[in-house]
Amino acid sequence: MTKKIAIIHGPNLNLLGTREPDHYGTETLAEIETHISALAAELACEVSFFQSNVEGEIVTAIQQAGGADGIVLNAGAYTHTSVAIRDAIAAIPAPVVEVHLSNVTARESFRHTSLIAPVCKGLIAGFGGGSYLLALRALVSAE
Ligand code: DQA
Repeated sequence: MTKKIAIIHGPNLNLLGTREPDHYGTETLAEIETHISALAAELACEVSFFQSNVEGEIVTAIQQAGGADGIVLNAGAYTHTSVAIRDAIAAIPAPVVEVHLSNVTARESFRHTSLIAPVCKGLIAGFGGGSYLLALRALVSAE
């Protein structure tokens, strides 16, 4: 059966392309999503996209994707602060892969803590937009 994977982006990721290019490169969110869609076609899976700067909207998107075959989540700065997003991940059956464009462990110490990592299936960071592609491959190939 065709796997359904939800791609959820958190705050400030709508600004990719111009936002801190030393950390995040110059690829826009639309370009990243185009690459994700191309890989999804290759892997014969379905992807949906959602971005919000609002914590509660991300919680709702996670709940709504709870029955999907997987979620690729870049929670942005909420990674380091949000108990609500962690609880939403823990509450749903879908496996969640935490992704980051930058290698958060090589940056400021406040980015070294992820409140969501303990309830995620795995974590991919440091490969720019490629982090999303690796996460999609991992979820689609998982049993
Ligand atoms: C980020 C890393 C976070 O620390 C930061 O707040 C972001 C982007 C990343 O993709 O590298 O907004 O999640």
